[in-house]
Amino acid sequence: MERIISPSILAADFNNLGAEIEKINNSKAQWLHCDVMDGVFVPNISFGVPVIESVSKISKKPLDVHLMIIEPQIHVESFFQAGAKNITVHYEASMHLHRLIYQIKKFGIKAGISLNPHTPVHLLEEIICDVDLVLIMSVNPGFGGQKFIENSYEKISKLKDLILKKNSGAMIQVDGGVTLENAKQLFDAGANNLVAGTTIFRSENPAKTIENLLST
Ligand code: DX5
Ligand code: ZN
Repeated sequence: MERIISPSILAADFNNLGAEIEKINNSKAQWLHCDVMDGVFVPNISFGVPVIESVSKISKKPLDVHLMIIEPQIHVESFFQAGAKNITVHYEASMHLHRLIYQIKKFGIKAGISLNPHTPVHLLEEIICDVDLVLIMSVNPGFGGQKFIENSYEKISKLKDLILKKNSGAMIQVDGGVTLENAKQLFDAGANNLVAGTTIFRSENPAKTIENLLST
């Protein structure tokens, strides 16, 4: 599967968001990751629909929207209308995940499920064939710049086994504490889609950092 890098704008300079997005437009990153936080599902509030709508007007990369919110089923249509091309919801926040996945797919976009660090991979057994992507959180969601949780490698391998066993086409995305140092080990463990905020936007040359992540 093709390797994908999805830079997270949470680590961008919000005073110069247009210029920051332009850097990603001119890079080899394939997606642009947008972290939506509601202050309830996670202990932080980031941004919502109006920001995503503005970002979608200038981003040349498809918007990869990560919803860290409760009751995501109420909001997925607004995020689709705002320009999302992938919507990932949390396993822990969705009571009727199967219905929600098809609610998202009906818009003609990709649907993903994210797992918090404590949520085991085997809980996806009955839904792995219905999703386009599984996001393994390698930090506790809520903040950028946190330390990578080492147990994530094992979860990636377990997820890869499950995907193979069930013949699912799901991508494996990893989010949180991704660096130039651990990217290779993440790809080797079976990840094919890496989200990185701090590593990309706080680097001197984001486009070069993206290239380095892809070719690690
Ligand atoms: C964390 C977010 C991440 C965050 C990653 O809750 O889901 O996408 O932006 O940031 P870094 O790459 O700095 O760990
Ligand atoms: Zn994220």
